[in-house]
Amino acid sequence: MSEYVISIKNISKTYWGAGEPVHALRSVSLNIPKGEMLAIMGPSGSGKSTMMNLLGCLDKPDEGSYIFSGQDIMALDRDQLAKLRNILIGFVFQQFNLLGRATALENVCLPLIYAGVKGREREARGMEMLRLVGLQGREHHLPRQLSGGQQQRVAIARSLVNRPHLLLADEPTGALDTKTSVEIMGLLQQLHREQGLSIAIVTHEPDIAQHCQRIVRLSDGQIINDEIVPEHLRAEAGVVRTEADKEAFPVRKAV
Ligand SMILES: Nc1ncnc2c1ncn2[C@@H]1O[C@H](COP(=O)(O)OP(=O)(O)O)[C@@H](O)[C@H]1O
Ligand SMILES: [Mg+2]
Repeated sequence: MSEYVISIKNISKTYWGAGEPVHALRSVSLNIPKGEMLAIMGPSGSGKSTMMNLLGCLDKPDEGSYIFSGQDIMALDRDQLAKLRNILIGFVFQQFNLLGRATALENVCLPLIYAGVKGREREARGMEMLRLVGLQGREHHLPRQLSGGQQQRVAIARSLVNRPHLLLADEPTGALDTKTSVEIMGLLQQLHREQGLSIAIVTHEPDIAQHCQRIVRLSDGQIINDEIVPEHLRAEAGVVRTEADKEAFPVRKAV
């Protein structure tokens, strides 16, 4: 088995619209070791979401190679990609994307229906996931009866219910206030630490990125910087970095 959850080499993606073609990613290579918590930063339009879509097998690169958990993604057809995606990859988005008429528990259990898991086991797994994200007692609430942070916890629980190898989060704190954002990053750190989950987070906020172990920067469709955040300088759940920490490891604004 490969020690990488993701290994991409020289991948490119061009959008052919009405006008000029847009080269959203240009020969990007990246290895993500199993169990890493990574931030992908970059200004608007730099290719972050395109990268997420490709890493998440929602779309295929035009060229290059992509190995996910030892499997050659370029060789798979649409159905095979969808199956792999549903089982091996969890997704979290800025806008939570919960079903408004479904309870927290029903939202979390949804991917298990697609996976063919039977009723009682489904519910047990859903309850376990809600406990994992600190929402016990809120199982039967509707999304509108929950705060933004709680809704994002439901979305995180839903993303993990199939026990994926990788969690992909595109601006997961983009709709949350600062305090709630730090709490959500604390939860992701905890899941990373305790479940050994590999996590890639797209963000343009330095305060969010500094919770990760590594920061990759995109600009104009290319990786321009790739750095490891020194362990002792990482932001911890609820622990704000000191000015000295920030000086030792400044995380620059992406925009
Ligand atoms: N479906 C699409 N069709 C055409 N152009 C697109 C499409 N999606 C993204 N782009 C373009 O590709 C570039 C990268 O976009 P994106 O990956 O969304 O960047 P980011 O998430 O960093 O803002 C931008 O110039 C954007 O306008
Ligand atoms: Mg984007």
